Amino acid sequence: MNAPDTTQKTGKIILVGFGPGAQEHMSYRARAAIAEADVVIGYATYIKLVQDLLDGKEVIRKGMTEELDRCNEAWEHARQGKTVAVISSGDIGVYGMAGPTYEVLLQSGWRPGSGITVEVVPGATALSACAALVGAPLTHDFCSISLSDLLTPWPVIARRLEAAARADFVVALYNPRSGRRTGQIVEAQRILLKHRSPETPVAVVKSAYRKKQTIQLTTLAQMADCDIGMLTTVLVGNSSTFIGEGLMITPRGYANKYAELTGETVVGEKAGRSLSLGLDGWKADVRERLAQGESAVDIARFFNLPVSEIEAVIGDKSPPE
Ligand SMILES: C[S@@+](CC[C@H](N)C(=O)[O-])C[C@H]1O[C@@H](n2cnc3c(N)ncnc32)[C@H](O)[C@@H]1O
Repeated sequence: MNAPDTTQKTGKIILVGFGPGAQEHMSYRARAAIAEADVVIGYATYIKLVQDLLDGKEVIRKGMTEELDRCNEAWEHARQGKTVAVISSGDIGVYGMAGPTYEVLLQSGWRPGSGITVEVVPGATALSACAALVGAPLTHDFCSISLSDLLTPWPVIARRLEAAARADFVVALYNPRSGRRTGQIVEAQRILLKHRSPETPVAVVKSAYRKKQTIQLTTLAQMADCDIGMLTTVLVGNSSTFIGEGLMITPRGYANKYAELTGETVVGEKAGRSLSLGLDGWKADVRERLAQGESAVDIARFFNLPVSEIEAVIGDKSPPE
């Protein structure tokens, strides 16, 4: 790594996530940051989306594969004392330019507090935007996995798909398909189907909050046959997700505790307390099963957990509450 650069002037780099595309979903700070900038750098499509904010600014358009060029240009302009906005759709820290920019800056000798300031402006991600368009599919634990193998080896992606599927996460699939990468979504479907019903609801949302927006509600079995492209995000439900009146909804879990969602607590549960199968209740249940002669292996299988989790309860000497 280079020695810190002490010659730099006091420029600024603002890393701006401008949301899914429509002006009304851009944050106040994102708009102000672009207004404040002398130079705006971005992928040509992103520049088009904020065109009406660019009057009088130096605009640098870059192609898809020129991410590191964008970082270097931002650094060069900031060193000349300019304010530079690097723009990205969604949240710039989510599969965006924030990481590579910091990497390039640190490698070039920049340090926080050394003259050039860096600010990251968060934005609404594609997954939030797509979820909002189809209902409420992310209301419980979810994860996002990019199917792009341009910079990530496939075994890493496959391992994450397998783990997410097994753990019953709602999964947002980013970069699901492009002109050259057509097999990844088919492989993802195959891996997810190992642990999830073919009827699992799936939303395929293209160009959310942009002119060519399309929404397809389908199933895991049909997912790979949908119209999917570079600007698509695919949301795969968990085992509780359902479609009702054309909306994709993942329950928050109220039905585990309250009859008819809003009624009395169900037998054995208490409002404001962990579920009967919350951490302490579950440990008590495991101890009860062990006391009745069930093996750790059988208990692990019953709860779909590794045996090591049952062994941890056996080894836990803290007194139950
Ligand atoms: C490089 S990632 C950018 C992610 C972005 N920074 C975010 O926070 O959502 C590009 C991928 O984001 C998703 N994407 C971006 N904009 C989208 C939109 N308007 N509608 C649907 N998906 C979108 C697609 O999966 C696309 O392949």
